[in-house]
This record gives sequence, C-alpha cells and structure tokens, in this order.
Amino acid sequence: MLVPSMLFQGIRLELIDDNFPSVGILMGRRALPKVNPSINTSGHLFVLDDLSPPLDWSCLFKDPSLPLEIEIGSGKGLFINTSSVEVPDRNFIGVELAKRYAVFAAARLARKKTENAVMISGDGLRFMAEFVAANTLDAVHVYFPDPWWKERHRKRRVMKESLVVDVERTLKPGGTLHFWTDVKEYFDSTLELIPSVCDLAGPYEVKANAPSHNLDYRTHFERRMRLHDKPVYRSLFKKPCV
Ligand SMILES: C[S@@+](CC[C@H](N)C(=O)[O-])C[C@H]1O[C@@H](n2cnc3c(N)ncnc32)[C@H](O)[C@@H]1O
Repeated sequence: MLVPSMLFQGIRLELIDDNFPSVGILMGRRALPKVNPSINTSGHLFVLDDLSPPLDWSCLFKDPSLPLEIEIGSGKGLFINTSSVEVPDRNFIGVELAKRYAVFAAARLARKKTENAVMISGDGLRFMAEFVAANTLDAVHVYFPDPWWKERHRKRRVMKESLVVDVERTLKPGGTLHFWTDVKEYFDSTLELIPSVCDLAGPYEVKANAPSHNLDYRTHFERRMRLHDKPVYRSLFKKPCV
C-alpha cells in the first residue's frame, strides 16, 4: 500500500502529487543534520508550553518595537534565517510543531547571534489564538503546510477557519498573509475559505524569483519543489486599511 511518507535507510521518502497521491512520485528528503550540542539556543528557542500570555516581547528581541512577522510551520527555518538577515529592521518569530526542527532552526539563529528572530517550539494555531493581540503583526507566513491528504484528516490542516480568523484579527491594517503550497487542492480550497470567513483582500499575484544561488528560495520546500520541476502555488492577502 502506498503511504504519504515512510522511513527508508535514514532518508524520508514522501509521495508528492498535486491531485492524487497514489500516482505521486517519490521525492527524497534528507535526514536532519545533528545540531552541535555546544550551541547555546537559550536566547533563540522557546517552548510554547512553558510560556504564558501576555508575552513580553522584550524577552525575545533586542528591539521589541520593530515590526513583527510570524511564520507558522517553519520546518528547518530557511525563511526565518534568511529574512532576519535581509530585513534587519523587522522581528521574526517562527513557530514549529516538531521540536527537532524548531531546535535545528533555532541553532542556526543562535550560531549567527541573530537579534531579531527566535523560534517557538509548539502549535502555531495555539500561539496565534492565545499569545498574539489584535492589530500587532505586519505579516503572517504559511509555506507548504502539511497537506493531510485523507478526507478524515483534513481537520488537522493549518489553513483552517480558526487560523484565518486569527490572522485577520492579529494583522495590523495593511499587514499581509503569505500562503504558498505545492498542493493545488489545498491552494484552491484555502482561496475559497478566506473570503468566506474574513475581509482580507486578495489573492494578489506573487511572481516567482529566479534563484541566484543554491539557497535562494523562500523555504526548503520551495527549493525541493522547484528543483523537481513541481508547481508552486503562491498567494498574498492584505488586511484592508481602515
Ligand atoms: C511540509 S513542512 C514545510 C516546512 C517549511 N514551511 C518549508 O516550506 O520548508 C510543514 C511544517 O509545518 C509544521 N507544522 C504542522 N502543523 C503545525 C502547527 N500547528 N504549528 C506549527 N507548525 C506546524 C510541521 O512540523 C512541518 O515542519
């Protein structure tokens, strides 16, 4: 029987197909490299279950007054790592459910002594609902969320009504939602969902850049899809200015 993912000789193989996973191709995913235990992640890794709202942003960032962007499901943290360097006048929080990925991404931030980005290990939906006040975020990013192919698992998807409503509530007027996926059905159903539950404007077209180096992609999953010539569906929404 074909299954969405399986472990094989240390390499995770995943079935990838836009419409029908049973005819998908097998795409290798490298095992996560070990994190050097001498890296001190204490300033860059926070565990959601250890925190309680309201959060004091000054515990997370050198300058908590900077505009704030949140990524839900950061994986290995390419977006958080690159954006915090490219946009030093903004703060970034990556929320990642899988602890080992949160640790990996935080270690990269810690190694570079990044002062404007941190990782939170935990559920991004809970973080958005319980820890983020209304009208505080400049952007929310959701890149290549797990598709949960089976109908009975769809409720586990990140892009669901409760999150979309929280995104609209927590964005400042003019703030943006970035949602990219390689799964056409997930893309189409989310683009139908958003206008039915909130007033975010969009979708606006997002053009793909031509990568100038090996890691010049928004995320690791975008890199994988493009290197395998798989389609990427990109959308951008904005909270209207009142
Ligand atoms: C398919 S990966 C994509 C990772 C990354 N965004 C990228 O594009 O390379 C989806 C990630 O979302 C994480 N995730 C799933 N549900 C989540 C949730 N509720 N909160 C935070 N992260 C979540 C998973 O652990 C996984 O690392």
